[in-house]
Amino acid sequence: MLRKYLLLPLLASYGAAVTISVAKSGGNVTTNLQYGAMEEEINHCGDGGLYAELIRNRAFQGSEMYPSSLDAWSGVGHSSLSLKNLSDPLSTALPTSVNVKGKGTVGLVNAGFWGIDVRPQKYTGSFYVKGSYHGTFTASLLSSTGKVLASTKVPSKGNAHEWVQHEFVLFPKKKAANTNNTFSLTFDASKASDGSLDFNLISLFPPTWNDRPNGMRKDLMQALADLGPKFLRFPGGSNLEGQTIEGRWKWNETIGPLKDRPGRATAWLYEETSGIGLIEYMEWCDDLNMEPILAVWSGLSLSGEVVPEEELDFYVQDALNEIEFLTGSVHTEYGALRAKLGHPKPWKIRYVEVGNEDNLSDGLDSYKAYRFQAFYDAISAKYPDIQVLASTIDMTIPGKAGGDYHLYDVPDNMVKQFNMFDNFRPDQPILLGEIAATEPNNGVGINWDDKNFSLYPWWIGTVSEAVFLLGAERNADKIIGTTYAPFLMNLDSYQWSPTLLSFNSNPEETARSTSWHLYSLFNHNHMTNTLPATSSDDFGPLYYVTGVDKKTDSHIFKAAVYNSTAEVPVSLTFEGVGRGTKADLTILTAADPFDMNEVGGENMVNSKTTKIKAGKKGEFSFKLPNLSIAVLTTN
Ligand SMILES: *[C@@H]1O[C@H](CO)[C@@H](O)[C@H](O)[C@H]1NC(C)=O
Ligand SMILES: *[C@@H]1O[C@H](CO)[C@@H](O)[C@H](O)[C@H]1NC(C)=O
Ligand SMILES: *[C@@H]1O[C@H](CO)[C@@H](O)[C@H](O)[C@H]1NC(C)=O
Ligand SMILES: *[C@@H]1O[C@H](CO)[C@@H](O)[C@H](O)[C@H]1NC(C)=O
Ligand SMILES: *[C@@H]1O[C@H](CO)[C@@H](O)[C@H](O)[C@H]1NC(C)=O
Ligand SMILES: *[C@@H]1O[C@H](CO)[C@@H](O)[C@H](O)[C@H]1NC(C)=O
Ligand SMILES: *[C@@H]1O[C@H](CO)[C@@H](O)[C@H](O)[C@H]1NC(C)=O
Ligand SMILES: *[C@@H]1O[C@H](CO)[C@@H](O)[C@H](O)[C@H]1NC(C)=O
Repeated sequence: MLRKYLLLPLLASYGAAVTISVAKSGGNVTTNLQYGAMEEEINHCGDGGLYAELIRNRAFQGSEMYPSSLDAWSGVGHSSLSLKNLSDPLSTALPTSVNVKGKGTVGLVNAGFWGIDVRPQKYTGSFYVKGSYHGTFTASLLSSTGKVLASTKVPSKGNAHEWVQHEFVLFPKKKAANTNNTFSLTFDASKASDGSLDFNLISLFPPTWNDRPNGMRKDLMQALADLGPKFLRFPGGSNLEGQTIEGRWKWNETIGPLKDRPGRATAWLYEETSGIGLIEYMEWCDDLNMEPILAVWSGLSLSGEVVPEEELDFYVQDALNEIEFLTGSVHTEYGALRAKLGHPKPWKIRYVEVGNEDNLSDGLDSYKAYRFQAFYDAISAKYPDIQVLASTIDMTIPGKAGGDYHLYDVPDNMVKQFNMFDNFRPDQPILLGEIAATEPNNGVGINWDDKNFSLYPWWIGTVSEAVFLLGAERNADKIIGTTYAPFLMNLDSYQWSPTLLSFNSNPEETARSTSWHLYSLFNHNHMTNTLPATSSDDFGPLYYVTGVDKKTDSHIFKAAVYNSTAEVPVSLTFEGVGRGTKADLTILTAADPFDMNEVGGENMVNSKTTKIKAGKKGEFSFKLPNLSIAVLTTN
């Protein structure tokens, strides 16, 4: 995917420096804007990604859209595998199980989410069996050539009358040569009453982030922790909406024991397990210290089905139930349910978004006419402290509600929207819930039918995002936060690119994209207030925002250079910051405008921090190259 360009050395330079004088006050604003994360099940980013489960298709979950299958499974030797809907299933949520039949040693093998990472660490597994069996099971991790990497014997507790869960651990002695490994579960058919047994919910976890059972993959959580997002928008995105009304994301089918979660057809071409459910999202927020921005279903599906006004109450009530489940005391109906599931302490929810992109899928008329208002009124009445957000800004937003704006575009258009928020009102907070440069400049802007979307964020795109984000930071009183979307992509099965983090089954190959480096730099240099600046030049090719972090008294300059033919010399002064003041100047560049951080590849973003000192008049003098992103902070 890497396009190599020959670059001429950038020797040319602007004659006179761009002078920027930052005042102490007058026209400054208080920052609300935070950098956050956005998540939904897409690109196998949850199942097969962040969610640490290693077994793909662990419970043969299916739907009308994606029928149950034996995907990822195969039989050992001459074993025959068949899907069955038994009259006494494991649970109503998981009606389909697999029957394994044969002679001698039989069993089934799982290919994982396109491989399984095997290294010396503890793997925790379990499976359910139905059938009388007087022998032992063997659970193993195998290499692609069949070499046993770890194995354990599990004595049978199975009988013909009920489903019995069996647990085991595996501890490989060595790291496998690659991740092309499988999991196998075998038994001796001659000791099973009719030569066959039924299995369901076969699961295997490596160690997880914070050691949470049913938890998250460590390397991906580490990449998020290092980014330091301040909020999480979930559970979507299109995935919240579902393809049909019936296919919507139903919060109460994502909680409780795994055997009671039916899973669902995602909006993204595969069935999900709902292993990451509502509680896992909240624990994820807890673990990374993120503010939850909860999206509730708003009565619109992606196919354009809309709930009529007279039937909307049920869904409004369901959203209230969901909020009560998360925030209610243990004396409320749904708060009690949360407590029963091990979380007596209520969570705090300050933001609720009603739907996703309700201006699309023919949803805008009904959203404006009755859908948004109904949710807004009910949520505000019961929870006056919650900031309700509309999922679009293509309408007159009532009362104190806010909106959500999404932008996917080519780099030139990202840059052209630098001024977009200058005329917005500060009393209606806006979330930038999905932002990304998605395909190279092509003269026509984004074309959704064109499949030329970049596989990974690439350097020009990242710089253009920086320019757009600087425009947002200049209006940081009007904007609650901004996030790249989508966030994660399993390179072995994805539906949308580019994303912030890309990965495969090998944690050592996870790619923190060029845009990850942008978000990380801007996020880690938070200003509490912007400060007004006057300049010798108009914006472009240099774009910037100036401000201060009142907590540390550090003055901050964030900038990006886009479309320059030469490096841009800058002379920057802050009122009240005198001669000799020291500052750190960090500049991000890449050797090639189309550099991308690829899965398994090296980091192409150069980050260079230098110490500089203010001159006689308190000026900081430095040069910023074309296609660079920079942050200066005074010490
Ligand atoms: C912003 O300006 C106001 C008055 O205009 C001043 O009181 C306040 O201290 C300024 N904030 C900062 C961070 O300088
Ligand atoms: C199990 O039931 C589902 C519907 O509930 C059906 O779609 C599927 O074909 C059935 N599978 C088998 C193996 O009978
Ligand atoms: C992985 O193993 C399978 C056999 O189990 C083989 O067909 C495939 O080529 C292997 N892939 C790699 C990348 O080694
Ligand atoms: C989920 O909530 C809806 C609305 O209250 C209810 O109709 C449905 O039965 C619930 N489902 C489960 C599995 O509890
Ligand atoms: C809906 O809003 C998004 C921004 O959130 C915008 O990109 C898109 O063009 C809008 N679609 C329509 C049909 O108005
Ligand atoms: C960048 O430069 C090209 C070529 O001069 C021009 O077509 C384009 O509009 C410029 N983009 C921006 C955002 O200024
Ligand atoms: C997609 O990219 C190819 C190769 O770069 C190009 O030939 C084609 O015109 C592009 N399609 C669109 C719709 O831009
Ligand atoms: C400067 O940046 C633009 C994009 O902003 C890029 O298209 C152009 O090639 C760069 N110019 C040079 C001389 O590197």
